[in-house]
Amino acid sequence: MRTKIVIVGAGPAGMLLSQILQISGIDCLVLERKSRAYVESRVRAGVLEQVTVDLLERVGVADRMRREGLPHDGFNLAVDGELFRIDMTGLTQGSKVMVYGQTEVTRDLIEAALARGTQVVFEAEDVTPHDIEGAQPFVTYRVAGGETIRVDCDFIAGCDGFHGVCRNAIPEEIRRTFERVYPFGWLGILSEVPPCNHELIYSNHERGFALASMRSRTRSRYYIQCPIDENLDDWPDERIWDELAIRLGDEAAAHIVRGPSFEKSIAPLRSFVSEPMRHGRLFLAGDAAHIVPPTGAKGLNLAASDVHFLAEAMIAFYKDGAEDLLNDYSRKALARVWKAERFSWWFTGITHRFPDRNAFDRKMQVAELDYIRHSHAAQITVAENYVGLPLE
Ligand code: APR
Ligand code: PHB
Repeated sequence: MRTKIVIVGAGPAGMLLSQILQISGIDCLVLERKSRAYVESRVRAGVLEQVTVDLLERVGVADRMRREGLPHDGFNLAVDGELFRIDMTGLTQGSKVMVYGQTEVTRDLIEAALARGTQVVFEAEDVTPHDIEGAQPFVTYRVAGGETIRVDCDFIAGCDGFHGVCRNAIPEEIRRTFERVYPFGWLGILSEVPPCNHELIYSNHERGFALASMRSRTRSRYYIQCPIDENLDDWPDERIWDELAIRLGDEAAAHIVRGPSFEKSIAPLRSFVSEPMRHGRLFLAGDAAHIVPPTGAKGLNLAASDVHFLAEAMIAFYKDGAEDLLNDYSRKALARVWKAERFSWWFTGITHRFPDRNAFDRKMQVAELDYIRHSHAAQITVAENYVGLPLE
Protein backbone atom coordinates (compact mmCIF):
# COMPACT_ATOMS: atom_id res chain seq x y z
CA MET A 1 0.00 0.00 0.00
CA ARG A 2 1.22 3.54 -0.71
CA THR A 3 0.08 7.06 0.08
CA LYS A 4 1.76 10.46 0.06
CA ILE A 5 1.46 11.16 3.78
CA VAL A 6 0.71 8.89 6.74
CA ILE A 7 -0.79 10.83 9.64
CA VAL A 8 -0.50 9.11 13.02
CA GLY A 9 -3.32 10.22 15.32
CA ALA A 10 -6.92 11.33 14.69
CA GLY A 11 -7.04 14.13 17.25
CA PRO A 12 -7.42 17.79 16.25
CA ALA A 13 -3.89 18.00 14.78
CA GLY A 14 -4.18 14.86 12.68
CA MET A 15 -7.69 15.54 11.46
CA LEU A 16 -7.05 19.21 10.64
CA LEU A 17 -3.96 18.20 8.66
CA SER A 18 -5.81 15.44 6.79
CA GLN A 19 -8.56 17.87 5.83
CA ILE A 20 -6.20 20.50 4.43
CA LEU A 21 -4.19 17.89 2.50
CA GLN A 22 -7.29 16.25 1.05
CA ILE A 23 -8.71 19.60 -0.07
CA SER A 24 -5.34 20.29 -1.69
CA GLY A 25 -5.50 16.99 -3.60
CA ILE A 26 -2.78 15.35 -1.53
CA ASP A 27 -3.79 11.86 -0.49
CA CYS A 28 -3.12 10.75 3.05
CA LEU A 29 -3.97 7.98 5.47
CA VAL A 30 -4.81 8.54 9.14
CA LEU A 31 -3.94 5.78 11.62
CA GLU A 32 -5.63 6.12 15.01
CA ARG A 33 -4.98 3.81 17.96
CA LYS A 34 -8.36 4.27 19.65
CA SER A 35 -11.91 3.74 18.44
CA ARG A 36 -13.84 6.60 16.87
CA ALA A 37 -16.23 6.57 19.82
CA TYR A 38 -13.33 6.91 22.26
CA VAL A 39 -11.69 9.74 20.33
CA GLU A 40 -14.98 11.62 20.06
CA SER A 41 -15.77 11.17 23.76
CA ARG A 42 -12.64 12.81 25.16
CA VAL A 43 -13.39 15.97 27.12
CA ARG A 44 -10.82 18.69 26.53
CA ALA A 45 -10.60 22.49 26.60
CA GLY A 46 -12.79 24.83 24.64
CA VAL A 47 -11.30 28.19 23.60
CA LEU A 48 -10.38 28.66 19.93
CA GLU A 49 -8.05 31.42 18.74
CA GLN A 50 -8.85 33.18 15.47
CA VAL A 51 -6.09 31.09 13.80
CA THR A 52 -7.98 27.92 14.67
CA VAL A 53 -11.36 29.35 13.66
CA ASP A 54 -9.86 30.45 10.32
CA LEU A 55 -8.44 26.97 9.70
CA LEU A 56 -11.79 25.33 10.41
CA GLU A 57 -13.43 27.81 8.03
CA ARG A 58 -10.75 27.03 5.41
CA VAL A 59 -11.39 23.29 5.55
CA GLY A 60 -15.15 23.81 5.49
CA VAL A 61 -15.74 22.47 8.99
CA ALA A 62 -17.09 25.59 10.66
CA ASP A 63 -20.86 25.37 10.21
CA ARG A 64 -21.71 23.89 13.63
CA MET A 65 -19.07 26.05 15.33
CA ARG A 66 -20.67 29.15 13.81
CA ARG A 67 -24.11 27.96 14.95
CA GLU A 68 -23.24 26.69 18.42
CA GLY A 69 -19.95 28.40 19.31
CA LEU A 70 -19.90 31.48 21.55
CA PRO A 71 -17.71 34.39 20.35
CA HIS A 72 -16.12 36.05 23.38
CA ASP A 73 -14.54 39.49 23.42
CA GLY A 74 -13.41 39.49 27.03
CA PHE A 75 -12.66 37.41 30.11
CA ASN A 76 -12.37 38.10 33.84
CA LEU A 77 -9.59 37.80 36.37
CA ALA A 78 -10.44 37.56 40.06
CA VAL A 79 -8.31 38.01 43.15
CA ASP A 80 -9.86 36.59 46.32
CA GLY A 81 -13.27 36.98 44.76
CA GLU A 82 -12.92 40.50 43.33
CA LEU A 83 -13.39 40.44 39.54
CA PHE A 84 -11.98 42.68 36.84
CA ARG A 85 -12.40 42.31 33.08
CA ILE A 86 -9.86 42.09 30.27
CA ASP A 87 -11.47 43.66 27.20
CA MET A 88 -9.71 41.44 24.65
CA THR A 89 -11.43 42.90 21.62
CA GLY A 90 -10.96 46.50 22.66
CA LEU A 91 -7.33 45.92 23.56
CA THR A 92 -6.42 44.04 20.37
CA GLN A 93 -8.18 46.08 17.67
CA GLY A 94 -11.04 43.60 17.30
CA SER A 95 -9.70 40.11 18.04
CA LYS A 96 -11.99 37.59 19.70
CA VAL A 97 -11.89 33.95 20.77
CA MET A 98 -14.54 31.32 20.10
CA VAL A 99 -15.76 29.20 23.00
CA TYR A 100 -16.49 25.81 21.40
CA GLY A 101 -15.50 22.46 22.91
CA GLN A 102 -12.53 20.62 21.44
CA THR A 103 -14.65 17.49 21.63
CA GLU A 104 -17.01 19.14 19.13
CA VAL A 105 -14.10 20.26 16.92
CA THR A 106 -12.85 16.68 16.78
CA ARG A 107 -16.31 15.30 16.03
CA ASP A 108 -16.84 17.85 13.25
CA LEU A 109 -13.43 17.09 11.70
CA ILE A 110 -13.89 13.32 11.77
CA GLU A 111 -17.39 13.57 10.30
CA ALA A 112 -16.13 15.84 7.50
CA ALA A 113 -13.14 13.62 6.79
CA LEU A 114 -15.22 10.46 6.48
CA ALA A 115 -17.78 12.27 4.35
CA ARG A 116 -14.94 13.35 2.04
CA GLY A 117 -13.66 9.77 1.84
CA THR A 118 -10.45 10.36 3.79
CA GLN A 119 -8.93 7.07 4.82
CA VAL A 120 -9.03 6.92 8.63
CA VAL A 121 -8.18 3.59 10.28
CA PHE A 122 -9.45 3.48 13.87
CA GLU A 123 -8.18 0.93 16.37
CA ALA A 124 -4.93 0.63 14.41
CA GLU A 125 -2.50 -1.40 16.51
CA ASP A 126 1.29 -1.19 16.85
CA VAL A 127 1.59 1.79 14.53
CA THR A 128 5.31 2.12 13.90
CA PRO A 129 7.23 4.65 11.79
CA HIS A 130 10.20 3.22 9.84
CA ASP A 131 13.17 4.63 7.86
CA ILE A 132 12.34 8.23 8.71
CA GLU A 133 15.94 9.23 7.88
CA GLY A 134 15.72 7.77 4.38
CA ALA A 135 13.85 8.89 1.25
CA GLN A 136 11.34 6.03 1.44
CA PRO A 137 9.82 6.02 4.90
CA PHE A 138 7.02 3.64 5.72
CA VAL A 139 4.63 2.86 8.54
CA THR A 140 3.46 -0.55 9.74
CA TYR A 141 0.36 -1.36 11.74
CA ARG A 142 -2.10 -4.14 12.43
CA VAL A 143 -5.86 -4.35 12.79
CA ALA A 144 -7.54 -6.68 15.28
CA GLY A 145 -4.34 -8.64 15.78
CA GLY A 146 -4.13 -9.48 12.07
CA GLU A 147 -1.20 -9.45 9.69
CA THR A 148 1.18 -6.51 9.69
CA ILE A 149 0.22 -3.93 7.07
CA ARG A 150 2.93 -1.78 5.49
CA VAL A 151 2.22 1.67 4.07
CA ASP A 152 4.95 3.30 2.00
CA CYS A 153 4.83 7.09 1.92
CA ASP A 154 6.76 10.29 1.30
CA PHE A 155 6.27 11.78 4.77
CA ILE A 156 4.97 10.80 8.20
CA ALA A 157 3.06 13.35 10.32
CA GLY A 158 3.33 12.50 14.00
CA CYS A 159 0.07 13.87 15.39
CA ASP A 160 -0.16 11.20 18.05
CA GLY A 161 -0.15 13.36 21.16
CA PHE A 162 2.00 13.32 24.28
CA HIS A 163 1.76 9.56 24.74
CA GLY A 164 2.30 8.67 21.10
CA VAL A 165 5.19 6.83 19.42
CA CYS A 166 6.36 9.33 16.81
CA ARG A 167 8.33 11.71 19.04
CA ASN A 168 10.48 8.84 20.27
CA ALA A 169 11.16 7.74 16.68
CA ILE A 170 13.54 10.71 16.60
CA PRO A 171 16.92 9.42 17.86
CA GLU A 172 17.44 10.26 21.54
CA GLU A 173 20.80 11.89 20.81
CA ILE A 174 19.02 14.37 18.56
CA ARG A 175 15.96 15.07 20.71
CA ARG A 176 16.12 17.94 23.24
CA THR A 177 13.28 18.02 25.76
CA PHE A 178 12.30 20.82 28.14
CA GLU A 179 9.77 20.21 30.92
CA ARG A 180 8.14 21.75 33.95
CA VAL A 181 5.68 19.56 35.91
CA TYR A 182 3.41 21.63 38.18
CA PRO A 183 2.82 20.53 41.81
CA PHE A 184 -0.97 20.43 41.38
CA GLY A 185 -3.75 19.34 39.02
CA TRP A 186 -7.10 20.61 37.79
CA LEU A 187 -10.30 18.91 38.92
CA GLY A 188 -12.85 19.59 36.18
CA ILE A 189 -16.60 19.06 35.99
CA LEU A 190 -19.21 19.40 33.28
CA SER A 191 -22.79 20.10 34.34
CA GLU A 192 -25.94 20.88 32.37
CA VAL A 193 -26.49 24.21 34.14
CA PRO A 194 -26.14 27.78 32.84
CA PRO A 195 -22.70 29.36 33.39
CA CYS A 196 -22.34 31.75 36.35
CA ASN A 197 -21.02 34.46 34.01
CA HIS A 198 -21.35 35.00 30.25
CA GLU A 199 -17.55 35.22 30.08
CA LEU A 200 -14.76 33.13 31.63
CA ILE A 201 -13.45 33.84 35.14
CA TYR A 202 -9.86 32.90 36.10
CA SER A 203 -9.58 33.23 39.86
CA ASN A 204 -6.53 33.47 42.14
CA HIS A 205 -7.72 32.62 45.64
CA GLU A 206 -5.68 31.87 48.74
CA ARG A 207 -7.32 28.43 48.79
CA GLY A 208 -6.26 27.82 45.18
CA PHE A 209 -7.13 28.53 41.55
CA ALA A 210 -10.61 28.19 40.06
CA LEU A 211 -11.91 28.65 36.51
CA ALA A 212 -15.51 29.22 35.45
CA SER A 213 -15.97 28.30 31.80
CA MET A 214 -18.70 26.90 29.61
CA ARG A 215 -19.61 24.77 26.58
CA SER A 216 -22.87 26.59 25.78
CA ARG A 217 -25.41 28.86 27.46
CA THR A 218 -26.83 25.79 29.20
CA ARG A 219 -23.68 23.72 29.85
CA SER A 220 -21.00 24.82 32.34
CA ARG A 221 -17.39 23.76 32.65
CA TYR A 222 -15.66 24.47 35.98
CA TYR A 223 -12.20 23.67 37.32
CA ILE A 224 -10.57 23.91 40.74
CA GLN A 225 -6.88 23.46 41.45
CA CYS A 226 -6.23 20.38 43.59
CA PRO A 227 -3.26 18.30 44.78
CA ILE A 228 -2.09 16.09 41.92
CA ASP A 229 -2.66 12.92 43.99
CA GLU A 230 -6.19 13.97 44.98
CA ASN A 231 -8.80 11.21 45.10
CA LEU A 232 -11.83 12.06 42.97
CA ASP A 233 -13.99 10.10 45.44
CA ASP A 234 -13.21 12.78 48.03
CA TRP A 235 -14.93 15.36 45.83
CA PRO A 236 -18.68 14.80 45.68
CA ASP A 237 -20.49 17.42 43.62
CA GLU A 238 -21.64 19.43 46.67
CA ARG A 239 -18.07 19.85 47.88
CA ILE A 240 -17.00 21.04 44.43
CA TRP A 241 -19.85 23.56 44.22
CA ASP A 242 -19.04 24.83 47.73
CA GLU A 243 -15.34 25.25 46.87
CA LEU A 244 -16.14 26.98 43.58
CA ALA A 245 -18.40 29.46 45.40
CA ILE A 246 -15.58 30.32 47.80
CA ARG A 247 -12.79 30.57 45.23
CA LEU A 248 -14.76 32.48 42.59
CA GLY A 249 -16.03 34.94 45.20
CA ASP A 250 -19.44 36.26 46.21
CA GLU A 251 -20.10 38.25 43.01
CA ALA A 252 -19.75 35.13 40.82
CA ALA A 253 -21.09 32.70 43.44
CA ALA A 254 -24.40 34.58 43.49
CA HIS A 255 -24.95 33.39 39.93
CA ILE A 256 -23.68 29.81 40.22
CA VAL A 257 -26.42 27.34 39.32
CA ARG A 258 -25.69 23.97 40.90
CA GLY A 259 -26.48 20.66 39.29
CA PRO A 260 -25.18 17.12 38.93
CA SER A 261 -21.85 16.70 37.15
CA PHE A 262 -21.90 14.31 34.20
CA GLU A 263 -18.15 14.43 33.76
CA LYS A 264 -15.59 14.75 36.54
CA SER A 265 -11.82 14.24 36.18
CA ILE A 266 -8.43 15.37 37.42
CA ALA A 267 -5.75 16.36 34.91
CA PRO A 268 -2.06 17.02 35.61
CA LEU A 269 -0.41 20.27 34.47
CA ARG A 270 2.88 20.35 32.65
CA SER A 271 4.89 22.50 30.28
CA PHE A 272 6.79 20.38 27.77
CA VAL A 273 8.58 20.91 24.47
CA SER A 274 10.54 18.41 22.39
CA GLU A 275 12.88 19.83 19.76
CA PRO A 276 13.26 19.50 16.82
CA MET A 277 9.75 19.01 15.43
CA ARG A 278 11.16 17.45 12.30
CA HIS A 279 13.66 14.69 11.67
CA GLY A 280 14.16 13.41 8.14
CA ARG A 281 10.73 12.55 6.73
CA LEU A 282 8.98 12.68 10.13
CA PHE A 283 7.19 15.88 11.18
CA LEU A 284 5.61 16.32 14.63
CA ALA A 285 2.54 18.50 15.21
CA GLY A 286 0.46 19.26 18.30
CA ASP A 287 0.79 17.50 21.63
CA ALA A 288 3.26 15.02 20.10
CA ALA A 289 5.80 17.84 20.30
CA HIS A 290 4.59 20.09 23.10
CA ILE A 291 2.25 20.40 26.07
CA VAL A 292 1.06 23.55 27.80
CA PRO A 293 -0.77 23.92 31.13
CA PRO A 294 -4.44 24.54 30.20
CA THR A 295 -4.48 27.96 31.91
CA GLY A 296 -3.83 29.79 28.67
CA ALA A 297 -6.13 27.54 26.59
CA LYS A 298 -3.30 27.11 24.06
CA GLY A 299 -3.13 23.32 23.48
CA LEU A 300 -5.55 22.99 20.59
CA ASN A 301 -4.52 26.35 19.16
CA LEU A 302 -0.84 25.38 18.99
CA ALA A 303 -1.85 22.15 17.24
CA ALA A 304 -3.69 24.32 14.71
CA SER A 305 -0.74 26.64 14.08
CA ASP A 306 1.65 23.68 13.72
CA VAL A 307 -0.74 22.20 11.15
CA HIS A 308 -0.96 25.54 9.33
CA PHE A 309 2.82 25.63 8.89
CA LEU A 310 3.15 21.91 8.07
CA ALA A 311 0.32 21.82 5.52
CA GLU A 312 1.72 24.94 3.82
CA ALA A 313 5.11 23.24 3.55
CA MET A 314 3.75 19.96 2.23
CA ILE A 315 1.54 21.69 -0.34
CA ALA A 316 4.56 23.67 -1.59
CA PHE A 317 6.56 20.44 -1.90
CA TYR A 318 3.93 18.67 -3.99
CA LYS A 319 3.25 21.79 -6.05
CA ASP A 320 6.79 22.35 -7.31
CA GLY A 321 9.19 20.22 -5.28
CA ALA A 322 10.19 23.14 -3.07
CA GLU A 323 11.65 21.96 0.25
CA ASP A 324 12.46 25.30 1.88
CA LEU A 325 9.24 25.43 3.94
CA LEU A 326 9.69 21.80 5.00
CA ASN A 327 13.24 22.62 6.09
CA ASP A 328 12.00 25.69 8.00
CA TYR A 329 8.98 23.99 9.61
CA SER A 330 10.51 23.15 12.99
CA ARG A 331 12.02 26.60 13.49
CA LYS A 332 8.83 28.41 12.50
CA ALA A 333 6.50 26.20 14.56
CA LEU A 334 8.75 26.31 17.64
CA ALA A 335 8.94 30.12 17.52
CA ARG A 336 5.18 30.26 18.14
CA VAL A 337 5.18 27.27 20.50
CA TRP A 338 7.71 28.83 22.85
CA LYS A 339 5.81 32.12 23.06
CA ALA A 340 2.62 30.23 23.95
CA GLU A 341 4.58 28.12 26.44
CA ARG A 342 5.79 31.32 28.08
CA PHE A 343 2.31 32.84 28.32
CA SER A 344 0.79 29.60 29.67
CA TRP A 345 3.60 29.24 32.24
CA TRP A 346 3.31 32.89 33.29
CA PHE A 347 -0.52 32.81 33.50
CA THR A 348 -0.34 29.62 35.58
CA GLY A 349 2.26 31.24 37.83
CA ILE A 350 0.16 34.26 38.76
CA THR A 351 -3.14 32.44 39.28
CA HIS A 352 -2.30 29.26 41.18
CA ARG A 353 -1.30 28.53 44.76
CA PHE A 354 2.14 26.90 44.82
CA PRO A 355 2.63 24.67 47.88
CA ASP A 356 6.35 25.42 48.10
CA ARG A 357 5.94 29.21 47.97
CA ASN A 358 5.48 31.60 50.92
CA ALA A 359 3.40 34.67 51.84
CA PHE A 360 5.80 36.98 50.01
CA ASP A 361 5.31 35.00 46.77
CA ARG A 362 1.54 35.36 47.05
CA LYS A 363 1.96 39.09 47.62
CA MET A 364 3.90 39.18 44.35
CA GLN A 365 1.03 37.39 42.57
CA VAL A 366 -1.55 39.79 44.01
CA ALA A 367 0.63 42.79 43.16
CA GLU A 368 1.05 41.61 39.56
CA LEU A 369 -2.69 41.05 39.18
CA ASP A 370 -3.32 44.49 40.71
CA TYR A 371 -0.83 45.98 38.25
CA ILE A 372 -2.66 44.30 35.35
CA ARG A 373 -5.97 45.57 36.69
CA HIS A 374 -4.83 49.18 36.60
CA SER A 375 -2.42 49.20 33.63
CA HIS A 376 -3.64 49.57 30.07
CA ALA A 377 -0.22 48.46 28.79
CA ALA A 378 -0.25 45.34 30.97
CA GLN A 379 -3.76 44.47 29.83
CA ILE A 380 -2.72 44.76 26.17
CA THR A 381 0.01 42.16 26.70
CA VAL A 382 -2.42 39.79 28.43
CA ALA A 383 -5.07 40.29 25.75
CA GLU A 384 -2.78 39.86 22.72
CA ASN A 385 -1.37 36.62 24.11
CA TYR A 386 -4.78 35.25 25.07
CA VAL A 387 -6.40 35.85 21.65
CA GLY A 388 -3.28 34.40 20.00
CA LEU A 389 -0.12 36.03 18.70
CA PRO A 390 0.32 36.49 14.94
CA LEU A 391 1.34 33.34 13.08
CA GLU A 392 4.71 34.78 12.10
N1 APR B 1 -0.86 5.10 17.14
C1 APR B 1 -1.97 5.73 16.63
N2 APR B 1 -2.62 6.75 17.24
C2 APR B 1 -2.10 7.15 18.43
C3 APR B 1 -0.96 6.57 19.03
C4 APR B 1 -0.34 5.51 18.33
N3 APR B 1 0.74 4.89 18.81
N4 APR B 1 -0.72 7.20 20.20
C5 APR B 1 -1.68 8.15 20.34
N5 APR B 1 -2.51 8.13 19.28
C6 APR B 1 -3.69 8.98 19.05
C7 APR B 1 -4.48 9.26 20.31
O1 APR B 1 -5.40 8.20 20.57
C8 APR B 1 -5.18 10.57 19.95
O2 APR B 1 -6.44 10.33 19.35
O3 APR B 1 -3.24 10.26 18.63
C9 APR B 1 -4.24 11.23 18.94
C10 APR B 1 -3.57 12.46 19.52
O4 APR B 1 -4.58 13.44 19.74
P1 APR B 1 -4.42 14.55 20.92
O5 APR B 1 -3.81 13.90 22.11
O6 APR B 1 -5.75 15.21 21.05
O7 APR B 1 -3.34 15.57 20.37
P2 APR B 1 -3.45 16.67 19.21
O8 APR B 1 -4.20 16.18 18.04
O9 APR B 1 -2.09 17.19 19.08
O10 APR B 1 -4.36 17.82 19.85
C11 APR B 1 -3.86 18.65 20.85
O11 APR B 1 -5.58 17.86 22.25
O12 APR B 1 -4.88 16.73 24.12
C12 APR B 1 -5.43 17.89 23.68
O13 APR B 1 -4.90 19.57 25.22
C13 APR B 1 -4.53 19.01 24.00
O14 APR B 1 -5.85 20.71 23.15
C14 APR B 1 -4.71 19.90 22.87
C15 APR B 1 -5.03 19.03 21.69
C1 PHB C 1 -12.44 24.99 29.13
O1 PHB C 1 -13.54 25.53 28.90
O2 PHB C 1 -12.30 23.74 29.21
C2 PHB C 1 -11.22 25.86 29.34
C3 PHB C 1 -11.32 27.21 29.08
C4 PHB C 1 -10.21 28.02 29.27
C5 PHB C 1 -9.02 27.46 29.71
C6 PHB C 1 -8.93 26.09 29.97
C7 PHB C 1 -10.03 25.28 29.79
O3 PHB C 1 -7.94 28.26 29.90
